[in-house]
Amino acid sequence: MTAPFYITTPIYYVNASPHLGHTYTTIATDVARRYHNMKGVETFMLTGTDEHGDKIVKAAEKNEQSPREYADRISALFRDLWPQLNIRPDHFIRTTDSDHIAVVVGILRKIYDNGDIYYSEYEGMYCYDCERFFNERELMDGKCPDHGKPPEIIRESNYFFRMSRYQQWLIDTLHDNPDMIRPERYRNEVLSFLKEPLEDLCISRPKSRLQWGITLPFDDRYVTYVWFDALINYISALEYPDGEKFRKFWPHSHHVVAKDILKPHGIYWPTMLRAAGIDTYKHLLVHGYWNVEDSKMSKSLGNVVDPVYLKQTYSTDAIRYFLMREMVFGLDSSFSEPSIINRINSDLANDLGNLFSRVLGMFHKYFKGTVPPFDPDAETDFQLDLKADARSTAAAFSAAMENFEFHKGLSAVWEYISKMNKYVDITAPWELAKKKEAAGQLAAVIRNLLEGLRVVSGLIYPVMPETAATMQKHLGLDPEKPFYLLEEIKKWPKIPDNASLPKGISLFPRIDPETILRTETTGGGDPFGIEAVSVPPIKEQIGFDDFSAIDLRAAKVIHAEKVPKADKLLKLEIDLGDHRRTVVAGIAKFYKPEELVGKSVVMLANLKPARLMGVESKGMLLAAVEKSACSVAVLDRDMPPGTPLM
Ligand code: MSP
Repeated sequence: MTAPFYITTPIYYVNASPHLGHTYTTIATDVARRYHNMKGVETFMLTGTDEHGDKIVKAAEKNEQSPREYADRISALFRDLWPQLNIRPDHFIRTTDSDHIAVVVGILRKIYDNGDIYYSEYEGMYCYDCERFFNERELMDGKCPDHGKPPEIIRESNYFFRMSRYQQWLIDTLHDNPDMIRPERYRNEVLSFLKEPLEDLCISRPKSRLQWGITLPFDDRYVTYVWFDALINYISALEYPDGEKFRKFWPHSHHVVAKDILKPHGIYWPTMLRAAGIDTYKHLLVHGYWNVEDSKMSKSLGNVVDPVYLKQTYSTDAIRYFLMREMVFGLDSSFSEPSIINRINSDLANDLGNLFSRVLGMFHKYFKGTVPPFDPDAETDFQLDLKADARSTAAAFSAAMENFEFHKGLSAVWEYISKMNKYVDITAPWELAKKKEAAGQLAAVIRNLLEGLRVVSGLIYPVMPETAATMQKHLGLDPEKPFYLLEEIKKWPKIPDNASLPKGISLFPRIDPETILRTETTGGGDPFGIEAVSVPPIKEQIGFDDFSAIDLRAAKVIHAEKVPKADKLLKLEIDLGDHRRTVVAGIAKFYKPEELVGKSVVMLANLKPARLMGVESKGMLLAAVEKSACSVAVLDRDMPPGTPLM
């Protein structure tokens, strides 16, 4: 029997809403899991949120919420996002879950009792944003490489994990298991780090400095360091130590992370496991960054892309395809909307979509919707053998997917699609249809093309499950049945003879970049794009009913950033009490983004959404505007966001 498959994403900090970077990792994890389902393997996928630590306390304070309320709210944003992108984890863990806390406490106690946790005074360079100590070597020009700030010197007594004791063991393990960390460049990075003596890891924070954490079972003046807590999620979710799930899945564990958290996963985690007497994980899969104009997409740089906007604009499958096709797993990739549109138009609309409608169009024209019976002796060798090519495509696809080389898996499928398009050109069914004696050949050609489309629909399943099901339905197969099993996909023929098929549809309409990337003025429009007339005459009188159709609300600006390539526009994240929205306002010439954050503003909440420079704006801020000045209307006293204005 094939071994089960356990796959995890990092658990994401709740100090920021989910963005495209988190989305990529989670989709890649879902794709790998679906691919293993195609092999008929039992799988378990885990994701969740990392909720303790200083970062979260600071973010909660900024939002005027308690850490608990704040963590509840942001964690729900992550949990609710994944199903919208067709990702269905088996478990969503939160580090504030009591089961998780109990496992962390148990492991701390175990390692402490073994003598691998000790108490000592320490003076070191601490980066508050990373929540960890740095050594000289790790700094860049004396500054934290991730946050660009010099660390602060801190002197305090703390508990330390004797990580140094496991240095040689880790080096040996990485040598004995050359594919434990993949791609190889990251294994090498960890090994090169291990060339220097490994320092012990400070694993506590005094409660005088931080309370939002798990109390150490052997000293209640301290909470545990957030990474010591977080990493343990991978086994607490499996109900370590006694859970059946732990026994079944842990030996087949795959952690997917980006390179930012290589060190905790490549060094802290295996040594922690070793010290706790637990076998180490099987594989660590490390990918690169999504960059925007050469900088890592991240909340702190304010250049994040909203996955919900992408899904609404381009469809879930298109986004999943773009992310998996565009990034070479392990390397950085550059994000831009024109590159999504390009991929959709060329790969999805042109190559796949055209082939699908072309083949189904001919099939309906020549066979009136009834599948011609498969004839194994029919002459179909028109320089291209779709059946043999399907086999080799499935093999190339599998080899790539096993290795997390999603882009390669997809390009193997797209090579097959282009062979099929060529097959249509070579066989020219429209010519065969003209000759009576070619009826058998015409049937064989169309039947081969239908089978080829079926293979394509099966192979795209892990990346584009909705498109796969739509194609299957139009090919006369029941999408509820396990059509995605690799073994089934490879069989030829599979479509029932004489099945009657529904008419084809357009899978991916072409996108006109103009409609998405340029300002639209339908719907809400940009009020500030209109030239303001100085002291315009008062408009016609209205009744109270007319006024009450306008829904004005007190709102708070949570975040503001410039809209790239639009010098007038600011993108604002607005709190309306029970939800948040994005609003685009044409006030960038008058306000710096940071001037607006925290302001209690007045918002027209029931304005129809409008798209401005590709960003969907839901509502409008009120402001006094004239040509060279603008003043946003703010409330004289702080009111809870969402309060109606009368
Ligand atoms: N909480 C820790 C992880 C603990 S796991 C035991 C953490 N959280 S995080 O919210 O900062 O998430 C980091 C992860 O988000 C990255 O490793 C990656 O999976 C994803 N990404 C965040 N930004 C990204 C890019 N710009 N590009 C690609 N992935 C990115 O670290």
